[in-house]
Amino acid sequence: MRNFEFYNPVKIVFGEGSIAKLKSLVPRDKKVMLTYGGGSIKKNGVYDQVKDALSGYRIIEFGGIEANPEYETLRKAAEICRKEKVGFLLAVGGGSVLDGTKFIAAISNYAGEAWDFLDGKARPSVAIPLGSVMTLPATGSEMNANAVVSRREMKEKRPFNSPLVLPQFAILDPETTKTLPESQRINGVIDTYVHIMEQYLTTDGGAWVSDNLSEGLLRVLVEHGKAYVEKPDDMTVAGNIMWASTMALNGIIRLGADSDWSTHAIGHILTAFYGLDHAITLAIVLPGVMQVMRTNKKSKLLQYAKVVWGITDGPEEERIDKVIHKTEEFFRMLGAKTKLSEFGITEDTPTLVADKMQSIGLLPCGEHRDMDYDIVKEILSLRK
Ligand code: NZQ
Ligand code: ZN
Repeated sequence: MRNFEFYNPVKIVFGEGSIAKLKSLVPRDKKVMLTYGGGSIKKNGVYDQVKDALSGYRIIEFGGIEANPEYETLRKAAEICRKEKVGFLLAVGGGSVLDGTKFIAAISNYAGEAWDFLDGKARPSVAIPLGSVMTLPATGSEMNANAVVSRREMKEKRPFNSPLVLPQFAILDPETTKTLPESQRINGVIDTYVHIMEQYLTTDGGAWVSDNLSEGLLRVLVEHGKAYVEKPDDMTVAGNIMWASTMALNGIIRLGADSDWSTHAIGHILTAFYGLDHAITLAIVLPGVMQVMRTNKKSKLLQYAKVVWGITDGPEEERIDKVIHKTEEFFRMLGAKTKLSEFGITEDTPTLVADKMQSIGLLPCGEHRDMDYDIVKEILSLRK
């Protein structure tokens, strides 16, 4: 078990009807910028609930933050924040709105080029405080310090993180998920699942508490993921999926353990090149990582097979084959496609992605930093 320090100050306000609590969470003396995406919050009543809760506040709005939030859009918002002297940001929407808002918070008072935070040249020293109403359980962004920003003209999608952009609070009202399209429900379960896997399927390092938490969360997704996709009105299911997605990436389940973010690293490049939804890239890549890295991950693969899927019989290599198949089958059963060719992608993707990862310094990756250019190519070659 590895040494660790842990601090997570995000206040979670969970439950139906909790948007009304915004008035006790958002500071009244600050000018607030309400940020949102393409308009889902106006169609499903979330916008009205937020405005009701904050009546009497000084609020300006910035809508139009794209799925996979776009760098240029966020720079425009930051410009407005500077001009209007915004003192608090309230992100209302999915992970893209929240990630975009974190980036706005970080760049608004930065005199240099905003890209510096994404290519690692600089780290923010101040940020506008922010809070969130999360309407799409998936990313865990509501309780972490990460944000991912896309720059389409450069075919780039890059993460950044800073404790300064941890939300002060996150409202999780499962009612908000009722209007999610089926595709986003599928995405939410898969993104959550893969976040857990990337913190769990690494070395067998004696981090039993984290392992058990991960296995428990994975079982919740296996048992209830399909119901979440099929029964949008079941608030017990939605509430549990929502909390699982927060728990999957708020830092708790990785404590004392190793992480392997290679599936996400490869997935971000696939989104940057082909515009695929984030979670779909993960459903494509993870089975390939499991297959190619099966020797390194053998002990955890066998534990995962046993505890999450009840696979205990047969020789070890056969159990590993079975559980890799089960994992992909689970994604497909939810309704996701898991092969590049199913999206009409036939070009030389393995080489293109490995080249890009090499050129921006993402290689080697994996828990042992032993996944190199050739391994990335091998993984994607299996996923055509
Ligand atoms: O833009 P609007 O109109 O709001 O519609 C959104 C969007 O089209 C819609 N939506 C959200 N809530 C809804 C709703 N539609 C109906 N009813 C609701 N209640 O869903 C669409 C997708 O939204 P988006 O925010 O893009 O999805 P998601 O939450 O999956 O976020 C994806 C982004 O988060 C990043 C991804 O890379 C991607 O850019 N991630 C962020 C992470 C983090 N900060 O820790 C970790 C993740 O691994 C991930 O990388
Ligand atoms: Zn993710």
